[in-house]
Amino acid sequence: MNGFLPKAGLLPSTAASSARVSASGVPETAAQDAPPLLRARGLVRRFKVRSQRGLFGGATTLTAVNDVSFDIHAGRTLGLVGESGCGKSTTARLTLGLTPVTAGEIAFDGMPVNGRRTAHWRELRRHMQMVYQDPLSVLDKRLPMLSQVIEPLDIFAVGERRERAEQARAMLSRVGLSQALWQRYPHELSGGQRQRAVLARALILQPRLLVCDEPISALDVSIQAQVINLLQDLQQEHHLGMLFISHDLKVVRQICDEVAVMYLGRIVEQGTPQELFAHPAHPYTQALVSAIPTPQRAKYHQRILLDGDPPNPINLPSGCAFHPRCPVATARCRQETPALQDLPGGRKVACLNASTPTLKS
Ligand SMILES: Nc1ncnc2c1ncn2[C@@H]1O[C@H](COP(=O)(O)OP(=O)(O)O)[C@@H](O)[C@H]1O
Ligand code: SF4
Ligand SMILES: [Mg+2]
Repeated sequence: MNGFLPKAGLLPSTAASSARVSASGVPETAAQDAPPLLRARGLVRRFKVRSQRGLFGGATTLTAVNDVSFDIHAGRTLGLVGESGCGKSTTARLTLGLTPVTAGEIAFDGMPVNGRRTAHWRELRRHMQMVYQDPLSVLDKRLPMLSQVIEPLDIFAVGERRERAEQARAMLSRVGLSQALWQRYPHELSGGQRQRAVLARALILQPRLLVCDEPISALDVSIQAQVINLLQDLQQEHHLGMLFISHDLKVVRQICDEVAVMYLGRIVEQGTPQELFAHPAHPYTQALVSAIPTPQRAKYHQRILLDGDPPNPINLPSGCAFHPRCPVATARCRQETPALQDLPGGRKVACLNASTPTLKS
């Protein structure tokens, strides 16, 4: 689409050839055999914050993300779910190098993403784009839509000026914005139209990874499905790897190839949506799944209500951080922190009692 020729090592992955098709429409075996587009290992992010304790409150440390690892393959979608404040957005920002890691490693196409604003990072960034919950936080309210989509091409000096405008018009059409809207300003569009414009702006540089942080949460329910369908179509067309953050578990189940459940900065369960939603192994996942108003819920008869809010991440409980709310916690859970361990079938669970019959599986 544009005249940009990627550098060696950033070339688009070769097309897949075979077998079953994933939730994202990509043949599964080929996608899984290829090296991951993005590889994150042992990510930790701590923030210095003011303690609430005492009259003056000294500085203390908040651990937002704690030992998080995952892979994202081209053409496939990893969903990230969990309560507000569990570290999803911080993980998204670490993934793109927008926030530096305290510890751990991220590689995009084998190249390190370390959060330092170097020329190397800028080059990588054009291949990794983000879609936020609020389109107005991304769009420039003084620029009409067409100029907003041309802008990234200008920044990276892609092609001639006339070609850039042509590419932007084609992309705006592709995301479903008619010509009558191209010269409008963000405040003159609906929420759904703005999010379409954000997608056009994110995809105009032909990225290979899209990180979507609650991309439909701010939209009317009536247009959420349209934007999700568009996102899926665009993913297939561009063979995009996606990190998809959402608290809408029905959408996550629909579009993700794999799902990671976070609790207080850690991944506590990970697996395919089919397995994870049908047989949640971690008590926290069981509670989340029990809240989905679908036939899955019938299996649990009633919603599992967790006591209280998640604990303060500045002052985490000992052992398993979920133990104060866990309906099946034992004395051991107060002392030992469970590691994320492999279960049969490619699932991973961080629970000391994951194999006991007290948990539904
Ligand atoms: N820049 C920051 N400084 C201090 N604390 C932060 C910062 N960013 C996030 N946090 C804290 O890190 C935790 C995780 O936040 P976040 O990643 O935004 O969670 P989520 O997206 O799951 O709601 C929260 O306790 C939040 O208050
Ligand atoms: S380790 Fe213990 S407290 Fe943590 S989820 Fe498992 S059973 Fe519950
Ligand atoms: Mg968030």
